[in-house]
Amino acid sequence: MVSLLFALTTLLSLASAISLPPNLHSRQATSLKPGAWIITYTPNAANSPTYRGPLRITSTSDATFISGDLYNGTVQPNPADGSPILPRNNYWGFVRATKLTAGSNRGFSLNLEFWTFGGFRQTVRYWDTIWAGQPVDGGYIVELSPASAPSGYPDTQNYFEGNVKIASSGAVVGKFTMGWVSTYLRRIKLEIGTVSGAKVPQADTSGTRTWKSVFAEAGYDISVTVGKTDIPEPSNTVGAGWFNEEQEHDAVLTYRGPTDYDKEWKYYLLIVRHMVESSRGAMIDPTRKYNGIPREGTAIASEWRVGTNPDGTPDTIDNVPWPASVVGKKFEDLQDPWFRTAVHEGEVP
Ligand SMILES: *[C@@H]1O[C@H](CO)[C@@H](O)[C@H](O)[C@H]1NC(C)=O
Repeated sequence: MVSLLFALTTLLSLASAISLPPNLHSRQATSLKPGAWIITYTPNAANSPTYRGPLRITSTSDATFISGDLYNGTVQPNPADGSPILPRNNYWGFVRATKLTAGSNRGFSLNLEFWTFGGFRQTVRYWDTIWAGQPVDGGYIVELSPASAPSGYPDTQNYFEGNVKIASSGAVVGKFTMGWVSTYLRRIKLEIGTVSGAKVPQADTSGTRTWKSVFAEAGYDISVTVGKTDIPEPSNTVGAGWFNEEQEHDAVLTYRGPTDYDKEWKYYLLIVRHMVESSRGAMIDPTRKYNGIPREGTAIASEWRVGTNPDGTPDTIDNVPWPASVVGKKFEDLQDPWFRTAVHEGEVP
């Protein structure tokens, strides 16, 4: 007889994971291995596609968080790659667990909700949703048992499969698998390009806070490449070395290496001397006004003079009481805030 431990189900806004209890009784279930998993859902209905995607599991001392995504295409994720990246057009829905229940023999069950995606919008305000109003079929219960992992899964002890049941009726509607693939939740790429003579931000002053270390703390496996380091400066009425946003956008598209968002989550960081619309740095094209793809890159202004407006007058935009010791200094010479700005603007949105 397996005793059941029920989680408190908290209603959170959609597209965020729900917290589940951290410590199921040790006799009933080992805790789920944190990191990225690959999930598959195959409905029993004839001709139904198999849905696939990542599942992300994290825990704190207070709670466990389980959420993921499902894609409806035919591209097979390779477990050796870690968290799967699948074609954007196949994005089908957001997955979250609302309850984790211990079973016997390393089994467990998950209450899962699949929220289908309704399509992107140019602007999403807080009252908008890009998701369906209800989870598919009102939510499922998936009863999982250890199973032998197909080849390629790196941890044969952490592969499970089982039936998907409609939570309200118990009707079996399909099969579900989940196999652990990586300690990282997501993997991303960053390409850095600079104008001639600009420094490449790689670390803080101490050298211990790097792109790798900062992103690893958030569960991201980041790979950083330095691309073109002699990007020409466009002519700009403000002066030599200045880029406006459209010129930044053109530089990203013109000078970056080949980029395929259906296979990689990539971001571009453009290092220029001065920016027209902002002093230190800014995301380029947040509203997709140039080529229909928003936020492909970001720029920072390495020769910004600290405490000044873009036109050189004393700062009135940020209204920051800059310490006298840094006012007027070249931004890239203040390694820590400059690297911090690069990381801040370079967060993959
Ligand atoms: C995949 O799901 C999306 C979002 O619901 C939909 O627009 C698209 O037509 C689906 N594609 C296939 C191959 O089913």
